[in-house]
Amino acid sequence: MDTDAALKQIEAAQSLEALQSLKVQYLGKNGLLTQQMKTLGSLSPEERKERGRQLNEAKSRLEGALEAREAALREKALQEQLEKEALDVSLPGYAFPSGGLHLISQIQQELLDIFRSMGHSVVEGPEVESEFFNFDGVNMPEWHPARDMQDTFWLQKPEHFTIRGPFGEDVGDLGGALLRTHTSPMQVRYMIQHTPPFKIVVPGRVFRYEQTDASHEAMFFQLEGLVVGPDITMADLKGAITELARGLFGAEAKVRFQPTFFPFVEPGAQFAMWWAERERWLELGGSGMVHPNVFKAVNDYREKMGLPRAYEGMTGWAFGFGIERLALLRYGIPDIRYFYQQNRLSFLRQFRN
Ligand code: PHE
Repeated sequence: MDTDAALKQIEAAQSLEALQSLKVQYLGKNGLLTQQMKTLGSLSPEERKERGRQLNEAKSRLEGALEAREAALREKALQEQLEKEALDVSLPGYAFPSGGLHLISQIQQELLDIFRSMGHSVVEGPEVESEFFNFDGVNMPEWHPARDMQDTFWLQKPEHFTIRGPFGEDVGDLGGALLRTHTSPMQVRYMIQHTPPFKIVVPGRVFRYEQTDASHEAMFFQLEGLVVGPDITMADLKGAITELARGLFGAEAKVRFQPTFFPFVEPGAQFAMWWAERERWLELGGSGMVHPNVFKAVNDYREKMGLPRAYEGMTGWAFGFGIERLALLRYGIPDIRYFYQQNRLSFLRQFRN
């Protein structure tokens, strides 16, 4: 056996498997070195001593070489694995496409925050409404010319569908089914169910059956406000709208009220806000003192439900305006149809929150 040749082979081994077979080849049960060890017995004592010493030395050199080579191979494999699985934590991460709130939702949240700060509760009502709550209950009986101001989508009531009142009662006999034209029906629903004093705001989707153009949509959002109590006055209304204007446009904001007609308020006023930055008035919505006929409709309904007529001697104010209109004016958006019909991301992304 050529020990030097064996050592070279061991040093040249490229894998743990190759190394293992060399080990077997030399040091295994039938390995070359083992076989030579077995021949020692046939030698004379002197020869055996000398030969034994040589073989033992060869054995320990081979073992040392095997061990060293194995360590080197393992180290190399580990290095390779580390390189292969290297994780560069300094690389930029994958960008997760995340959505955002629609501009109208953002403004709605902003508005609700302003009113919450004034102590209003936020409540919502149904979009599919009974003719009673949408019209008759807010002093717009069938014959009233004001009904022409708010043409709507009438619905054919499917058999299984019932419109329910504030207490879950079926109100199918109170007129046709329609898509609500404003959030004002929630005034009636809320008052039937609650006793004054209270302050609420009602955000929600409303519908109008009309020609769509740059400032009209068949569907849009409104915000309704209602405050009722024993001594509520128009001054309270002005205060709340002023607070709203300041919340939206800063401490310097001013408001303006001009007489106008809505069947469910008396007196009625449209209101505008002074936008100092642009030096212009933004005509925003309608408001006024709750009409006695609205309180009467509420009291009658409550009586029918076996509840006390809680609105006698009460006064209140209400307002309502379109949220899109506020957005159009505030951001100089030229066409209300950008919000929903075109649904262009390039437009919507400008208002990403
Ligand atoms: N409901 C009215 C509309 O949609 C707005 C309004 C609400 C006016 C409350 C006065 C009081 O046009």
